[in-house]
Amino acid sequence: MTSVALAFSGGLDTTVCVSLLKEEYGYDEVVGVTVDVGQPESEFAEARETAEAHGLDLHVVDAKAEFADLCFESVRANATYQGYPLGTALARPVIAEAILEVAETEGCDALAHGCTGKGNDQLRFEAVWRRSDLEVVAPVRELELTREWEMAYAEDNDLPVQSGNDGVWSIDTNLWSRSVEGGDLEDPGHVPGEEIYEWTTDPATATETELVEIGFEDGYPVALDGEELDPVELIRRLNDRAGAHGVGRTDMMEDRMLGLKVRENYEHPAATTLLAAHESLEGLVLTKDERDFKRRVDDEWAQKGYEGLVDHPLVDALEGFVAETQARVTGTVTIKFEGGRARPVARESEYAAYSEDAASFNTEDVGGITQKDATGVAKYHGFQGRLANAARDAVEGREDDEGDWE
Ligand code: ARG
Repeated sequence: MTSVALAFSGGLDTTVCVSLLKEEYGYDEVVGVTVDVGQPESEFAEARETAEAHGLDLHVVDAKAEFADLCFESVRANATYQGYPLGTALARPVIAEAILEVAETEGCDALAHGCTGKGNDQLRFEAVWRRSDLEVVAPVRELELTREWEMAYAEDNDLPVQSGNDGVWSIDTNLWSRSVEGGDLEDPGHVPGEEIYEWTTDPATATETELVEIGFEDGYPVALDGEELDPVELIRRLNDRAGAHGVGRTDMMEDRMLGLKVRENYEHPAATTLLAAHESLEGLVLTKDERDFKRRVDDEWAQKGYEGLVDHPLVDALEGFVAETQARVTGTVTIKFEGGRARPVARESEYAAYSEDAASFNTEDVGGITQKDATGVAKYHGFQGRLANAARDAVEGREDDEGDWE
C-alpha cells in the first residue's frame, strides 16, 4: 500500500489533486494535511467538508505560533519584497515542515502539493521537502493543469469548490497577509472593485483617526496600548484595528522567482503597522551607520524570505547582525491610523541615541561642544569637490582659449 501526504487547503487546486493522486498517480491512500497559519475558520470548515466528501484522512496542524514568531523575525529585519510583507512567502516553509513531519510519522512514501509550475510556492515547499528522501509529486505542474480545466474537472466529478468567490480569484490568507490574484485581476490595467478586500475598509470612508501604542522588546512587538500580548493575538488585534482604517492595501506588479511578473493585491494591516513602528523605533536608537548598513542586511533577509529559504546559512548570519542591533530596539511607538495610513507620530526608548539638548536650538553648550566648534568642519565641508571643480574649470578655460586660436 502506497500513501502520499498532500498539502491540503480545501481550495480548487488541492481538491482536484486528491482525485488525481489516486487516479493518475496510483497512490492507494492520500493523507491530507491542512496547516493552520491563521486562515479564517471558514477555510477549515471547507477543508473538512471536502475531505469528508472524498473520504480523505485529514490532519490539521496548528502552526500559528511558529508562523507568528517568524513574522516577528521579519519585523526585526524590516522585511518587505517590492513592498509586500511576505505573508505567503513566510508561511510556506512553516507549512512544509509541518507536512513533512506528518508524512514521516504516518509513514508516507511521498509528498504532494497543488502548486502550479509558474509560481513561487512550488519552490518554497520543495526547498524544505527535498531535505528528506520522500518522493515529491506536483500534479498541477506535472499534468500542466489550468484553472479552467480544474474547474470543469471539479464540476464533472462533483467535487466541492471554495464557495467564497466561486473560484474566480485565487486567494491565500494567513495571519500576516491576504493575497488575491487571478481572474480579472490578471489584467494589470483593471481597477479592482471593493469586493476583493476583506480585511480593510475603503480608506476613503475611514474618516476617523485612532492612536495605538506599540511596545517593542529587542525589536519584537510585545504589547498594544500597554497590554502584553502573544504574537498571534497581537497580530490578530492589530489586523482588526488597522484594517478598520483601511491600512495595508498593496496593488503591485511582483517579480516572481522564475522571472514571471504577477499582478498581486494584498491586505496586511498589522504588518504595515508593525513594520512602520519598528523602523521608526530603529530611527531613534540606531546610529546612522547601523541604519545604512542594516538596510542592506534587511534587503538580503527579505530576498531569502521571499524565496522561502529562511533556513539558509546566510539568514543565520544576517540574523546575527540583526540581533546585535535589536538589543537596543526596546521602547514604544505611537502610530496614528488615518485614512488608510499608519503613521508613526511618537517614539520613546531608554536607548535613544538622541540628545534633546544637543539638537535643540535653545542650548549653548553640550558636553563641552559649542556652536563655534562646527566652524572648522564647515570650512572643510565640500572642500574636495571645490578643488575638483576648480581644476576642471581651469582646464576647460584653457581648451576654450585653444579653440579661439583655430
Ligand atoms: N505572489 C505571492 C508570493 O509568491 C503570493 C501568492 C499567493 N497565492 C495565491 N494563490 N493568492 O508570495
